[in-house]
Amino acid sequence: MAVLEMKEICYAYEEGRPILSNVNMEFETGKMYAILGPSGSGKTTLLSLIGGLDIPQKGEILFEGENISQCGLACHRRNHVALIFQSYNLIDYMTPVENVALTARQDALALLLRLGLTAEEAKRNVMKLSGGQQQRVAIARALASDTPVILADEPTGNLDEDTAGEIAGILKESAHELNKCMIVVTHSNELAAKADVVLYLKCGSIHTA
Ligand SMILES: Nc1ncnc2c1ncn2[C@@H]1O[C@H](COP(=O)(O)OP(=O)(O)O)[C@@H](O)[C@H]1O
Ligand SMILES: [Mg+2]
Repeated sequence: MAVLEMKEICYAYEEGRPILSNVNMEFETGKMYAILGPSGSGKTTLLSLIGGLDIPQKGEILFEGENISQCGLACHRRNHVALIFQSYNLIDYMTPVENVALTARQDALALLLRLGLTAEEAKRNVMKLSGGQQQRVAIARALASDTPVILADEPTGNLDEDTAGEIAGILKESAHELNKCMIVVTHSNELAAKADVVLYLKCGSIHTA
């Protein structure tokens, strides 16, 4: 069964200018999905609906077969989905261990080591880490919250090509080894090349290749 489902989703910020028109999509656990689309195509909007940050005008978002409004959007955000952003969004006066411990339902340090930080880096202020290291911390934070679904918005957008490739690899490994449903929106073809399923968002609809 799909862990997450979009059913006939329509969304517009302004009347007469639809961003999403009748989007139907199913997402399974253990897979990495890449949703590709140019800037302004509605990728962030789509993630905000799946993530329970906004409500579609029409249609339903189902988590494990139940409309997310049944449990409530706050409950959905707390228990079902975790977010990863382009700009990491870490708490800047804390260390990686402290950042991850904020959401952790598991050992924060062990997770950071698993994602490639050294024990010393894990206890350094996050602002003294490279972009790639900061994104590893943000991924660890998302994994630590133990939610079945992880949503990533342009997670490699601020990184150089090699580091972006490493981060894409970590996202894919997390989906496969930790059985997560990993949904990444991006305009990067390199990132999409790592995904199990590649989808295109165009003119308000989702297409497969
Ligand atoms: N809060 C908002 N109010 C009005 N229009 C918005 C708002 N947020 C985004 N948009 C518009 O919706 C469209 C899709 O935006 P977005 O989902 O951010 O696209 P993407 O993430 O693919 O770049 C864009 O034309 C954008 O300008
Ligand atoms: Mg965006």
